[in-house]
Amino acid sequence: MARITASVYTSHVPAIGAALDLGKTGEPYWQKVFAGYEFSKRWMREHRPDVVFLVYNDHATAFSLEIIPTFAIGTAAEFAPADEGYGPRPVPRVVGHPELASHIAQSVIQDDFDLTIVNKMDVDHGLTVPLSLMCGQPDAWPFKVIPFAVNVVQYPVPSGRRCFALGQAIRRAVESYDEDLNVQIWGTGGMSHQLQGARAGLINAEWDNRFLDRLIADPAGLAQVPHVEYVREAGSEGIELVMWLIARGAMADVAGGPPPRVVHRFFHVPASNTAVGHLILENPA
Ligand code: DHB
Ligand code: FE
Repeated sequence: MARITASVYTSHVPAIGAALDLGKTGEPYWQKVFAGYEFSKRWMREHRPDVVFLVYNDHATAFSLEIIPTFAIGTAAEFAPADEGYGPRPVPRVVGHPELASHIAQSVIQDDFDLTIVNKMDVDHGLTVPLSLMCGQPDAWPFKVIPFAVNVVQYPVPSGRRCFALGQAIRRAVESYDEDLNVQIWGTGGMSHQLQGARAGLINAEWDNRFLDRLIADPAGLAQVPHVEYVREAGSEGIELVMWLIARGAMADVAGGPPPRVVHRFFHVPASNTAVGHLILENPA
């Protein structure tokens, strides 16, 4: 059967992608950010999954204000990197896993979560920057990716509680897939940042680190935090963090298994306008 072996959490700041693509990773400002992912790239090479279920948010690239799915699963065979205003990033096309994605859609929808099925979609920095941070600059991404887009841009956004429950349904779906696949689930976006309005530039390192502590040790309690607290404490774009609860909900301990092993934790301020947070949690074998 397919199994979820680990979850990865990381910010997706677009300027990180630009720093990589423009060869600026050695500059002092960026060195400190990329240093936090050196371990992660080695770990990825040693723990290569077959498929990554990548929870991210689209930034009005694939979806506009015309259609706003709360939860959208990418069932296509391929996804092209998208225009973000500067042209698409020079990164490989993303290869999907239509069979597993369709199975997850079937299972999760029958488990009472209403997903939008997306058979054609471009993917923006929300998805490609986490891939770059974890894999560097390969000619092809070394695993298949199921993109799972969450609306955290246009209100109303889903609650952390619903995201956490959805992660549990995704775990049930993966574990009922009849093929021996190593699957990781990634939760991306965050941490605190606000890109607009009077509080633009807001960063709350204390709240972010408390979020990381609770994500590890008290995810069910953390899932009860209302969206207004994210916005008040972590800024208007800090709400991206509810996506991390989808990945955390899919870990074994939430279904009564052993607690995950924290293999890596990193936090750094700033990258562009954002506090960068990163965690790797392994399910004990
Ligand atoms: C920044 C962060 C984001 O999450 C994003 O989508 C765009 C910009 C930033 O820090 O500049
Ligand atoms: Fe973002």
